[in-house]
Amino acid sequence: MSIQRVKSKWAKTKIMLRSDYLRQFMPVTKLFDRTNLRTMLNEYGMVYFKPINGTFGKGVTRIERTTTPSLGYRYQLDTKIMFFSSFDQLYHRLLKQKRGRSHIVQKGIHLLRHQKRRFDIRVMVQKNPRNEWEATGIIGRLAHPAKIVTNYHSGGTPMAIERLMSDHASSSELAAFKNRLRKLSITIANNLEASYPHLKEIGVDIAIDAKLHPWILEVNTLPDPFIFRKLPDQSVFHKIYRYAVAYGRFKKRSRRP
Ligand SMILES: Nc1ncnc2c1ncn2[C@@H]1O[C@H](COP(=O)(O)OP(=O)(O)O)[C@@H](O)[C@H]1O
Ligand SMILES: [Mg+2]
Repeated sequence: MSIQRVKSKWAKTKIMLRSDYLRQFMPVTKLFDRTNLRTMLNEYGMVYFKPINGTFGKGVTRIERTTTPSLGYRYQLDTKIMFFSSFDQLYHRLLKQKRGRSHIVQKGIHLLRHQKRRFDIRVMVQKNPRNEWEATGIIGRLAHPAKIVTNYHSGGTPMAIERLMSDHASSSELAAFKNRLRKLSITIANNLEASYPHLKEIGVDIAIDAKLHPWILEVNTLPDPFIFRKLPDQSVFHKIYRYAVAYGRFKKRSRRP
C-alpha cells in the first residue's frame, strides 16, 4: 500500500477539531465566506486567508484591521501590501483572488521574532521501523524579512530552534518545550491515522505566540525532509531519510526526487 497523502487543509482540520486535547492548540479556522471573514476580523483583528489545497505558502494572505479607521484593512500577499478603506473592497479583492477555489480563514497568530523576522516551527513525525510514530526532527523556519510566510519555497530560512528561541527561553525551558512539541505532534499523527490508516509521515507547522503557547497552523502529509539537512546535527536528516526509505518514500541512495 502506498503512503497516504491528504491535500485538503480543511479535511485535516475537521478531524483534529474532534479532539478536545488538540483543540486547545488550534487557532479558530473556518471556511471562507463573507460572514466568517467579517466576524473573525472583528473578533481577532488579524486573520490568515489560505487556499485549502495550497502549498509552499502560495496564496497565503494576512489581513489586519488597522488601528487608524481611515486606513481600514491592511492586506499582504507575498511582498504586496494594500490598504482597503472598506470591508466590501477587501472582500471583493479576496473573491477575485480566490478564482473559484475554496479557502479557509484562520485566526492570525503573532509569531515570535528573531532579528525582527517572524519564525515558526516544523516538526517531522514518522513511522519508525517498529511501526510506531516517532518525532524525528524539529526545525525553525525564519521568514524572509519582507514576507508573512516562513516556507523555504517562499524565501524562508530553515534554522535550529535553539538559535531562534535563544531570546525567548532558557535552555532548560526549551528542552521542556521541545518535549511538548513532540508529544503534541505524535498525538496529531495518531488522530489523523485513525481516519487515514496508510499515513507514514507528517510535518506539523506550529506557530508560537508571546506566551510560548504552540498553535497548529497546518499538517502536511508530504513533508519536505531536505530542510533538515540545514541543521548542524546531520544525524537528524540521516534518521529521517532512513525511515523514509524503510516505508518506501525513497529508494536507497536515491537523490532528491
Ligand atoms: N494563522 C496563522 N497565523 C500566523 N501565521 C500563519 C498562519 N497561517 C499561516 N501562517 C504563516 O504562513 C505559512 C504558510 O501557511 P500554511 O498554512 O503552512 O500553508 P502552506 O501549505 O502554503 O505551507 C506558515 O508556515 C506561517 O508562517
Ligand atoms: Mg505549511
